[in-house]
Amino acid sequence: MSTSVEPTAGDVNPLLGLGGGTPLEAVSHVPGSTAYMDRARRVIPRGLASRGRLRAVPVAFESGRDAYLFDVDGNRYVDCVMALGPLLLGHSPQEVIEAVTAQLSRGLQFGGQHEGEAELAERVVRTVPCAEKVVFSNTGSEAVQAAVRIARATTKRRLIVKFDGHYHGWIDPLFVNSPGVPAAAQAPVPLEVTHNVPGQPAPEDVVVCPWNDLEAIDELLARIGEQVAAVIMEPIPFNLGTFLPQDGYLEGVRRLCRRHGALLIFDEVVSGFRVALGGAQELLGVTPDLAIYAKGVAAGLPLALVVGTDEAMASAVDGPVVHGGTYNATPMAVAAALAAIEYLERRSPAVYEQLDEAGARLAQGLRALGVRHGVPLVANQVGSLVQLLWAPREPMRNYADVSLADPAPIAELCERVLADGVYAAPRGLLFLSTAHSAQDVDHIVDAYDNALQRRASAAG
Ligand SMILES: Cc1ncc(COP(=O)(O)O)c(C=O)c1O
Repeated sequence: MSTSVEPTAGDVNPLLGLGGGTPLEAVSHVPGSTAYMDRARRVIPRGLASRGRLRAVPVAFESGRDAYLFDVDGNRYVDCVMALGPLLLGHSPQEVIEAVTAQLSRGLQFGGQHEGEAELAERVVRTVPCAEKVVFSNTGSEAVQAAVRIARATTKRRLIVKFDGHYHGWIDPLFVNSPGVPAAAQAPVPLEVTHNVPGQPAPEDVVVCPWNDLEAIDELLARIGEQVAAVIMEPIPFNLGTFLPQDGYLEGVRRLCRRHGALLIFDEVVSGFRVALGGAQELLGVTPDLAIYAKGVAAGLPLALVVGTDEAMASAVDGPVVHGGTYNATPMAVAAALAAIEYLERRSPAVYEQLDEAGARLAQGLRALGVRHGVPLVANQVGSLVQLLWAPREPMRNYADVSLADPAPIAELCERVLADGVYAAPRGLLFLSTAHSAQDVDHIVDAYDNALQRRASAAG
């Protein structure tokens, strides 16, 4: 049996990789999902609501609870996708569900202000180091756009510097040099490639620079610094291999941005609330001018925030910036966010120690498998996230290192672990949550152990 999903060359990239064929054991137990995909593809491009969900063996779900997902065929999986980040508290955190249910009976939308907005913003200002003002949005991609607009209006400059392999959402013009696009040259360069629409000229107002290389950004800003509105980065690059910046790098970029009058934006869409309540800026002790929080905010409901200092936000307060959105700060998402923050605040720091321990246990277990099976399995870990890579070299420090990894075996393993009740993403980024127990983590490791065994047997 084979699935009828046929990834094209455009779907293959180093971190969002597909390939390695479709292991038989992975597809034989999902006939209902396969039938669903055949139906969906007739009316939905690729049958997918988001390209980030593309995989060789599609699975259609019926429900989720705690750390588990249940598919339409009745299979249970330990979930290591966790909606690609938002389910930090698991699938069914009681406090959040109660808060959202209570809000439902008070109304779905008001089209005007409600108390929860100011309450949430006050909590965020108390929690996030750079936050003096808070702007509401729905998704990370939208919030990035708002942050860029604010930065341009505040500085009255146009250029944005982004880093090689960092992902800031799917909207133009920042959807360039994301994971999968060949790494830029070793020196900072104007963009030459875009992967949105083939043949489309690269945006002239975005410049790409290698990350974790202070000399490179120093040299770039020395040349064009007076035109740069903002330098945007994932302070912990979860889309680029999941490792920490070199000592002094973030401090150095912070200093350089100040020197050249450019704003520093941290994209904390993944790291926000997940690595610490205040995000990577709290964990690593470097405060940007603006930051974007999204996946960690509302426990699974769509809510994103742009936060920043009064100075950086000046153009949004009484300047020309127009920021709108029918669904901004929708009451249900705000209720969920308040309950989630309350949950995390009440249990800090123990809850973050628990998340770190789960991540470390998973990474250690997977590394041991690499040694036992004699394969180049690398498990990079920061907090509750583990990036699996099939890579010849570690430690990694930039996109050039990560690009040496072969995505195909990792994508293949993610299909093979389905048969042992583990749902993982083809790119190999494994998300844990407060709902994952040590037994769940061990189950994931055992599934990868079996998958490596079966892979070796299949290779003969
Ligand atoms: C670092 C980062 N920024 C922005 C985004 C875009 O967020 P969204 O998918 O909510 O639009 C993502 C999504 O994965 C992300 O990882």
